Amino acid sequence: MPVAVISGASRGLGPGLIRKLKDSHTIYAVCREASSELKSLRVHIIEGIDFSKKESFEKLKKALEGVEIDLLLNVAGIYLRDTFETLSIEAIEKSFFVNSIAPLFVTKTLSDQLNEHAKVLMMSSRMGSIGDASTSRSYAYRASKSALNMFGKCLSLEFKNKNISVLLVHPGSVRTDMNPDGQISTETSVNGILEKIKFLDANTSGKFLAFDERELPW
Ligand SMILES: NC(=O)c1ccc[n+]([C@@H]2O[C@H](COP(=O)([O-])OP(=O)(O)OC[C@H]3O[C@@H](n4cnc5c(N)ncnc54)[C@H](OP(=O)(O)O)[C@@H]3O)[C@@H](O)[C@H]2O)c1
Repeated sequence: MPVAVISGASRGLGPGLIRKLKDSHTIYAVCREASSELKSLRVHIIEGIDFSKKESFEKLKKALEGVEIDLLLNVAGIYLRDTFETLSIEAIEKSFFVNSIAPLFVTKTLSDQLNEHAKVLMMSSRMGSIGDASTSRSYAYRASKSALNMFGKCLSLEFKNKNISVLLVHPGSVRTDMNPDGQISTETSVNGILEKIKFLDANTSGKFLAFDERELPW
């Protein structure tokens, strides 16, 4: 069976993706601490990986020693809400570390374990779209996802010769702990995301797509 590595596996979209993939993939679920929801899915669990810490990348590599990866889903993320009045350097630093630097360095650290034709997903957000921005809130989150978009684009170019594809995905406004007022269920979002992954290849690599049919402006 192909191997999928999924971060953010404890809550929200992570377990949603695992649920749909676990019959067709060997899953390595990456988290800080396994939730009861994750444990009930009966997949390989890698605990103790905190993406706000530099050492997490090597720790993850060690845990995945010898594993060849077909699908790498960088899902973990944080949304620290801010406004111009409440801006904080600490929140911006943490948002960039978890939302942009970690997915880049997870992918870099595991790159020699990615099979030819492997697929890499970066869970981005429409809020990272500069072309689509219409409010002045959420500086840290928005900018961290914009940076993630650029990192993902660069990776798509980097990996072209290895036939590895990279996709930046907006999952929609999904009802999870991060977004309790979200407009769609995890299942609807995950179905759309998996459809995008299915058709991910050299032609779609480096694109920024929504879970539905929309291509988003950078
Ligand atoms: N929900 C939406 O409407 C929406 C919209 C656009 C984009 N997104 C993106 O989709 C992804 C998943 O979001 P979600 O809605 O599923 O959010 P969620 O329910 O809040 O789950 C976030 C996940 O990220 C993990 N995480 C957070 N900080 C971490 C850290 N320092 N180290 C390791 N793991 C960490 C959490 O683990 P713990 O349980 O250990 O905290 C959890 O598994 C995120 O990247 C988010 O930005 C979501």
